[in-house]
Amino acid sequence: MKETDFKNQVVVVTGAGQGLGRAYAELFASRGAAVVVNDTGFGEDGQALADKVAEFIRASGGEAVSIKESVAERDSVKRIVEGTLQRYGRIDALVHNAGIVRDRPILEMSDEAFNNVLNVHLYGSFYLLQEIHPVMCRQDYGRIVLITSSAALHGVATQTNYAAAKAGIFGLVQAYKEELSGRNIQCNMVAPLAVTQMTSESINPDFHKFLKPEKVAPMVAYLCSKECTFSGCLYAAGAGYYGRIGIFWSNGVYFSNDTVSIEDIAENLEKISDMKNSTHISSSIHSARKFMRNVFKQINS
Ligand SMILES: NC(=O)c1ccc[n+]([C@@H]2O[C@H](COP(=O)([O-])OP(=O)(O)OC[C@H]3O[C@@H](n4cnc5c(N)ncnc54)[C@H](O)[C@@H]3O)[C@@H](O)[C@H]2O)c1
Repeated sequence: MKETDFKNQVVVVTGAGQGLGRAYAELFASRGAAVVVNDTGFGEDGQALADKVAEFIRASGGEAVSIKESVAERDSVKRIVEGTLQRYGRIDALVHNAGIVRDRPILEMSDEAFNNVLNVHLYGSFYLLQEIHPVMCRQDYGRIVLITSSAALHGVATQTNYAAAKAGIFGLVQAYKEELSGRNIQCNMVAPLAVTQMTSESINPDFHKFLKPEKVAPMVAYLCSKECTFSGCLYAAGAGYYGRIGIFWSNGVYFSNDTVSIEDIAENLEKISDMKNSTHISSSIHSARKFMRNVFKQINS
């Protein structure tokens, strides 16, 4: 099989100063990409994390530059994009991986904690897409991966802010993929699991050695490669597991009577809720067809 390479490609990885982002940045660099290592964080020695990773990549024979601007504000996102273009002239791939958590039970969740998390994950995604979209359209090429989380899909107590932000990314990508139709730009998502400074305290130490960020990186890199020709998909990656996560609708129940009562719902709830033989719904047209099947049947009868 032909080896996937990123030679002559420029890849921006946000939050690449440590953890998962660092693993992504190092994999891209090892396959020939010029990597923009974006991160606002600092190590205990006072050195910027982004500088450290960019230096490490260069010392290993790769090409990298650090940009220490925040993804959480419009103007600094503009500087990430402008800085990349000034240095390398193009952006082939973006991985928006930067992240924070500010966990609190709902009644203790301040507006500030809620907004800060949304700003980094969701508004950061929005700003980055808006600033990078024209660049990728000019190139007629681009690959984007936004990082979400299983916490958004299934919920973790104390993470209403994080779940809302990460679920928002899912919706953002579904709408954005429709706007990409016909272009050679693909946008997908990854829900990772790995031990990093964000997760190490919540994961049993016995499992740490199995949950390396390097195990997530190949999935992200594939979705950023020329080989990836689809959009709107969400993949799970971690501990050696790689799988797709989709939206399934139950077969449900169609009532053809003009009025439907609360009791009709109550009596049929088991059937309405039954996920056996459910259908994967991958677009809004597909979902509209699901709603309208009964209507079309009645019109055509
Ligand atoms: N580790 C997991 O198991 C896991 C699970 C699900 C989702 N995620 C997501 O994966 C991503 C990476 O997580 P991680 O575990 O490597 O965490 P991490 O804390 O090790 O790395 C996140 C990095 O983002 C940087 N960052 C934070 N705010 C920023 C900003 N405004 N601008 C630029 N950089 C900023 C931080 O300085 C940090 O270096 C996050 O989006 C996280 O929510 C991680």
